[in-house]
Amino acid sequence: MCGIFAYTGNNGKNAGEVLLDGLSSLEYRGYDSAGIYLPESGIVKSTGAVSQLRRKLPAGYFGKSGIAHIRWATHGEPTEINAHPHKDCSGNIWLAHNGIVENYKELREKLTELGHTFLSATDTEVLAHLIEEHLKVEKDFERAALAALREVKGTYGLAIAYALEPEKVIAARMGSPVVLGLGENERFIASDASPILKHTSQVVFLEDGEIAVITPTKHDIFKLDGGRIERKAEKIDWNVEAAQRGGYQHFMLKEIMEGPEVVENTLRGRLLEKEGLAKLGGLEGVADEIKKAERMIIVGCGTAYYAGLTGEYMLEEHAGIPVEVELGSEFRYRHPVLNPKTMLLAVSQSGETLDTLEAIREGKRRGALTLSIVNTVGSTIARETDAGVYNHAGPEIGVASTKALVSQLTALSLLTIFLGRQRRMSIETGQEIARELQAIPDKIRSILERRTEIERLAKKYAKARDFLYIGRKYNYSIAFEGALKLKEISYIHAEGCGAGEMKHGPLAMIDEHFPTMAIATSDSVYEKVASNIQEIKARKGPVIALATEGNHEIAKAADDVIYVPKTIEMLSPILNVVPLQLFAYYFAKEKGYNVDRPRNLAKSVTVE
Ligand code: F6R
Repeated sequence: MCGIFAYTGNNGKNAGEVLLDGLSSLEYRGYDSAGIYLPESGIVKSTGAVSQLRRKLPAGYFGKSGIAHIRWATHGEPTEINAHPHKDCSGNIWLAHNGIVENYKELREKLTELGHTFLSATDTEVLAHLIEEHLKVEKDFERAALAALREVKGTYGLAIAYALEPEKVIAARMGSPVVLGLGENERFIASDASPILKHTSQVVFLEDGEIAVITPTKHDIFKLDGGRIERKAEKIDWNVEAAQRGGYQHFMLKEIMEGPEVVENTLRGRLLEKEGLAKLGGLEGVADEIKKAERMIIVGCGTAYYAGLTGEYMLEEHAGIPVEVELGSEFRYRHPVLNPKTMLLAVSQSGETLDTLEAIREGKRRGALTLSIVNTVGSTIARETDAGVYNHAGPEIGVASTKALVSQLTALSLLTIFLGRQRRMSIETGQEIARELQAIPDKIRSILERRTEIERLAKKYAKARDFLYIGRKYNYSIAFEGALKLKEISYIHAEGCGAGEMKHGPLAMIDEHFPTMAIATSDSVYEKVASNIQEIKARKGPVIALATEGNHEIAKAADDVIYVPKTIEMLSPILNVVPLQLFAYYFAKEKGYNVDRPRNLAKSVTVE
């Protein structure tokens, strides 16, 4: 999730200042490198935050228009070369991009054959060269941009500048947000309204498949086929912070709401549904070692550890690989027996969690093949492991991990198909998992649409001082994750428990003041969990059941029911975790806590 920002005006303002200032308010979208291009003053790029870019600007850096970018790396390490804006061979076309060009390899090969030279490792750079190629035929900047974008597969929010028409900037949107700002003799393009609001509250939101051409006094919107669109400006009265949160009250809610796109982005270009295969480019370099591997150990901390636990069930059942899951903090201090046929897989959103990193280092010392599922490109874990899979979930700002977990579970499902099809998984099973995975985003959408029901329940139970979460098999770890979410932002006692373990101790805690969230979706252990619910009810414990749509029976046993759509058992955790995240969010909100910054916690734990 990068941020783009562009400006054109004829009112004496320095575009350089406007752009740098605006980039700072987009910094929550990425912070590994930044860049700015003004046709009148040229390009400046830097790694790190906007303040570092500012320090590099030469004296007299001035212009009336320009484009700028703050990067969250997806393809290519966060270096200065890979920072945006990127240019074509002539140095006249420059662009800033938020999104992923899926067919960039094919395009790059084609353009290289045509004589184009590439400088960076990014997917974005092909776009500048593609426009350059079309410009040779079209002889017109706008028509060339349209023709080029018609060839692109993937997602983009784009700002494109052309040195020979410096007053003009082109915006384009496909799957990544783009807002136009309409000021007095000035126009803006941005990933969200936050950098625009200081200048104007009049905005136009682009839709997918649209491009806009802005000059200081005009904006024209077209469809990719060239057809013109009329759209009225809207007035928004959010403040900058609300705009960064997309109008949501907290980042945590915004990030939960991003679930469907996060799954789409994690899957993008990686599923071959017809063949029942998963393509994980990041693992290609160690393909032989992976084929020969005999076991896997997954390491992680907190939520990432719970993702690993679900991964164990997926990989053992469908890929036939023996898997163990360990907390990074434990693994590093015992003496694990590893060899080159052991795959040690780190799961980490930040890629910087010290315990997970040290577990990987320990694994390396002991000869294991080290792999990672990491969200932050170029992070230490991503760099130090032999190979890996990036989540592409975008930066997670809320301290409580939500969308990252949804993405980690999706990536582990892909890994299960990938490893399973090399081993014992049939093509039919591969196809079925692939098909079901593709349906997950819409199913998450339908859960999110009913979030007010979950809010109502959270308010009903918000006075509880204890909460038990039970689940079994694939949802065993999700019970622990549900409890972790509640305790970390509500500061109440919440406990996860394998449903089958209740009678071995935890049942003793139950009385009419001790509610239970029971994950009881329709799967191979449903009957067992349904019996556990009866046992709790017999002790007067209030029960909220998380059940599959259509199960009306359960409403007779439980006090309240949250329904989720049906999917295959292996993928049910991806759906089930979403209502638990929402429940924790509304519960903490009801208690009046700052859900994005829970006390005593930090987003990235780089100490022991
Ligand atoms: C809980 C949470 C933490 C992290 C853990 C690992 O909501 O966010 O438990 O999951 O600190 O962090 P990463 O994934 O960055 O290694």
